[in-house]
Amino acid sequence: MIVLGIESSCDETSVSILEDEELKANLIFSQHFHKEFGGVIPELSSRAHLQQVIPLIKSALTKSKIELADIDVISATAGPGLIGALLVGLTFGKSLALSLDKPFVPVNHIEGHIFSGFLMKDKPEFPFLCSVVSGGHTLLLVVKSEFEIIKLGTTIDDAIGESFDKVSKMIGLGYPGGPLIQQYAQKGNDQKFKFPIGKTKNKYDFSFSGLKTAVLRQIQEIEKDSVINESIKNDIAASFQKAATEAITKRVTIALKEFNIKSLSLVGGVAANQLLREQFINIGKEFNKKVIIPNHEFCGDNAAMIAYRAMQYHKAGKRFSLSSNAYPSLNSSTFLT
Ligand code: KG4
Ligand code: ZN
Repeated sequence: MIVLGIESSCDETSVSILEDEELKANLIFSQHFHKEFGGVIPELSSRAHLQQVIPLIKSALTKSKIELADIDVISATAGPGLIGALLVGLTFGKSLALSLDKPFVPVNHIEGHIFSGFLMKDKPEFPFLCSVVSGGHTLLLVVKSEFEIIKLGTTIDDAIGESFDKVSKMIGLGYPGGPLIQQYAQKGNDQKFKFPIGKTKNKYDFSFSGLKTAVLRQIQEIEKDSVINESIKNDIAASFQKAATEAITKRVTIALKEFNIKSLSLVGGVAANQLLREQFINIGKEFNKKVIIPNHEFCGDNAAMIAYRAMQYHKAGKRFSLSSNAYPSLNSSTFLT
């Protein structure tokens, strides 16, 4: 089975071709120009997707040595994400499916991330504990099977990636903040500032707004009689990164004691964070669980995970009408309960 995947939910246009378990192409165009605005500008994002989607499809077919007519299933991200951006990939995918008379699978972006570990040679085993850490979402899930996902917790305010981006802006590092915070943190002292780990009523929920405010207060305090120099930036980045990653690992450790799971997976854009990756590997050793963290290529937004999720749906016999629409929030996911 050959599946074409299209991803356009935010600031990456991506096209993939998956032939059964073999990924033939996963092309990603990152819209770096948002950097100068300090965040994603939705209208500019939609326009860039429009410019990129056709050339990327052509390049993916060439790279895979596959003809358009050989594609069995066409899939695209339907949500959550920026509505204008989503509509570009979704509408293109549906039109292509209609013109080629092929089935179309609309994919939930977060479900794509959840199963992105399956793109690796060593795959998660059900049931697995999944930590979704991205720019828009922070979730802790027990994935019992392909279509049975139990949500243990979610963020009650900011997402973890959003907090990396905001703290990065506060100390003048730019966008996207995650990789920059990581880079500065490597040179910093993570014990320098004591930042709080957000407490929540549900032990599996997350809160990052208090941490963000604590960083802001610390900056204001320093600026009373000094300036935020490079060395202070390094220490803030390291101390913040320590607190933000501990907020995730703390919940994961509690869940591992409570649930009988076979493996542990870390997915989403923030799964590219080196410290968090190391912490998960250590937790895996401590609890004797297999840990699956996708390669960097599959952590950030990519169409390989969309095609993979579409293949799971199609193989399970699930069929969709072309009237499915784009949706901005997570609520429309069919299997997250
Ligand atoms: O999954 P993703 O590409 O997009 C969403 O679906 O949201 O995640 C993007 C997020 C951004 O907030 C970015 O700052 C963060 O992932 N990120 C990182 C790192 N690389 C990307 N956060 C921490 N450390 C990193 N190395
Ligand atoms: Zn994402």
